[in-house]
Amino acid sequence: MTVSVSKAALRVIGDQVAFLRAFVRHPLAVGAVAPSSRFLAGAVAGVVPPGARCVAELGPGTGSITRALLQRLGPEATVLALEIDPAFCQVLRRDLPDRRLRVVEAPAQRLPQVAAELGVTVEAVVSGLPFANFPAAIRHEIVGAAHGTLVAGGVFAGYGYAPFALPPLLNVHFGGHGTRFVWRNLPPAFVFTAQKPKWASARPPDGHDQG
Ligand SMILES: C[S@@+](CC[C@H](N)C(=O)[O-])C[C@H]1O[C@@H](n2cnc3c(N)ncnc32)[C@H](O)[C@@H]1O
Repeated sequence: MTVSVSKAALRVIGDQVAFLRAFVRHPLAVGAVAPSSRFLAGAVAGVVPPGARCVAELGPGTGSITRALLQRLGPEATVLALEIDPAFCQVLRRDLPDRRLRVVEAPAQRLPQVAAELGVTVEAVVSGLPFANFPAAIRHEIVGAAHGTLVAGGVFAGYGYAPFALPPLLNVHFGGHGTRFVWRNLPPAFVFTAQKPKWASARPPDGHDQG
């Protein structure tokens, strides 16, 4: 009997193995035993305006959200992916040979410096980071760096499995946040969004709850 396995299925299995390995090595930094489902990835990427020219992704892992972003964005867009795990960087460079993707092995905290070095204007920041596992000072440093790097009117989207880590940070740095729940992920997850005001007195965008 011959069993044929598609290239896509092999890639999914490979990503799962890479993820589990990374989780065993660095459970707190990886923060999940499986990559995001396409439903969660689509919900996070869906917050980004399709016409955005530069999107920063923090903690891309094996690229679930990266793929959704690349599908959504135009031919001239750039996805700047900051990942601390060198094995994940290697997987991304190997499996996503897209000239719009720039994988940088660096912590998310360095986003302002990396964006400045590359001379890009960041219109959206998406995060796959497990904020709940980080000390408060690091959480603030990362969300502050994202806010500081975004253009006025730029959007932020990240996910988490409980509503206690990211929402308070978004309230402090962006002045509010929106929430959506995605069931079809293991485990089900919240997607949290925020927008940097277009001008100082701007209110959070329509549909973004306060608190
Ligand atoms: C929960 S995984 C998410 C992976 C992928 N975005 C997904 O949704 O499937 C978290 C990722 O964040 C990375 N990470 C953790 N801390 C980081 C930091 N300070 N800067 C950049 N990446 C970080 C981990 O190596 C891992 O790839």
